[in-house]
Amino acid sequence: VHLYEEVARKIERVIRAGTFRPGDRLPSVRQATAQHGISATTAVQAYLMLENEGLIEARPKSGFFVRARWHDRLPEPRVSRPTRAVTAVTVGALQSRLFDGGRLPGVVPFGGAAPGPELLPIAKLSRIMASVSRSAGGRGLAYDMPPGSETLRRAIARRALEAGAELAPEDIITTCGATEALLLCLRAVTSRGDVVAVESPAYFGVLHLLEELGLKAAEIPTHARDGFDLDALERALCGGRIAACVAVPNFANPLGSLMPQENKRRLVEMLAAREVPLIEDDIFGELHFDPERPRVARAFDRKGLVLLCSSFSKTLAPGYRVGWVAAGERYHQRVRTLKLASSLATPTLPQLAIAEFVTNGGYDHYLRGVRQTYERQIACVSEAVTEAFPAGCKITRPRGGFVLWVELPEDVDALRLDDMAMAEKISIAPGPLFSAKLGFRNFIRLSCGHPWTPRAESAIGVLGRLVKKLA
Ligand SMILES: Cc1ncc(COP(=O)(O)O)c(C=O)c1O
Repeated sequence: VHLYEEVARKIERVIRAGTFRPGDRLPSVRQATAQHGISATTAVQAYLMLENEGLIEARPKSGFFVRARWHDRLPEPRVSRPTRAVTAVTVGALQSRLFDGGRLPGVVPFGGAAPGPELLPIAKLSRIMASVSRSAGGRGLAYDMPPGSETLRRAIARRALEAGAELAPEDIITTCGATEALLLCLRAVTSRGDVVAVESPAYFGVLHLLEELGLKAAEIPTHARDGFDLDALERALCGGRIAACVAVPNFANPLGSLMPQENKRRLVEMLAAREVPLIEDDIFGELHFDPERPRVARAFDRKGLVLLCSSFSKTLAPGYRVGWVAAGERYHQRVRTLKLASSLATPTLPQLAIAEFVTNGGYDHYLRGVRQTYERQIACVSEAVTEAFPAGCKITRPRGGFVLWVELPEDVDALRLDDMAMAEKISIAPGPLFSAKLGFRNFIRLSCGHPWTPRAESAIGVLGRLVKKLA
């Protein structure tokens, strides 16, 4: 027996004993070297052996992790196959149903993708709000005309550096959530009847905007792990009808997919070659589980064609309605004018409170904690789904954000499941919400933004029984 095999078996015993659980990071190669008194080469060989055996997995630049059990039992959904036809969108009515359901008292909240209030820094943010409100005096009650709070825009510009985007405070316009940012961008770069390329599945809010603006969707096949199938997007672009593209490259909703950096570069170049603007939604970008903050596609923009949108809704306070857009040289003025027409100004005090929290309130410390929490909650829900749902289901493995996308057996109708779940006081987001023409009938999105509790666990059990009944 080689030394590395002995070490591998030792590590395996430690894992089987539960010292490291599914999803946990194992000691680094350097630590393993010291712990077992072996060379770095032997430590790497031991880890590679365990990886080959499927017990652990390597993640680039992060180290080795215990593979979650569900990884072996429930596969990942495959690349989507939306219709090739360009379609008018109809999701508005379904969306109201989701939000109405989520509002009922006592409902187990796997539906809406909002962070659980228990995880938000309520006390600190409230104190900051009171203090900025006092010190702003009358200014706090006045309009804060576009481009919006300068302290907030400076804070956003500093954070954008970490995502590879060089933004100046004057490049940014604050908005009422990412929703308004996306609306302004779509209005700036399209006109009624135009075709917009979107992910498939896509965030229903974007689909709803297309519907209301009279735009058509070209749904592009999308990988559960890597985002857009770029060859498919290229084929769609060749048709020459695409006026704009909307993408969530970092932890898409509902797929949780993360476009590899090279794909982001190719995406930007491919669109730029045809002068097609990219509206990039980076709302989940700060909620990464691996150490490195993923870059935004905007980092690769050379032509001023990437309009970058985001907000603080997934990280701090969805109800403050504070978002922003950096539309780039070409569209900045247009977006600023449209902002006046859309809502005149972004609420003043919420901007000041968020600026203060982000600059001096320990935002980074808070984010570090909450990223771990979401990773854990995703692991708990995934494991419970694996236990409770029938064979033939598939589930994503997001490395950021807090939503899971679950494929159910083909004959299960997610809208019926949604009705039955609602009767049991469980909210979910049925798959048809995420397609222009009510596709994904046998898919659901489960939001893991709320704390994992015994009640949540038994709700997954109930969902599993309902799925089996419908299958
Ligand atoms: C991908 C994505 N973009 C935008 C939004 C809306 O963000 P906001 O609440 O800031 O308007 C959401 C909210 O669910 C989302 O998931």
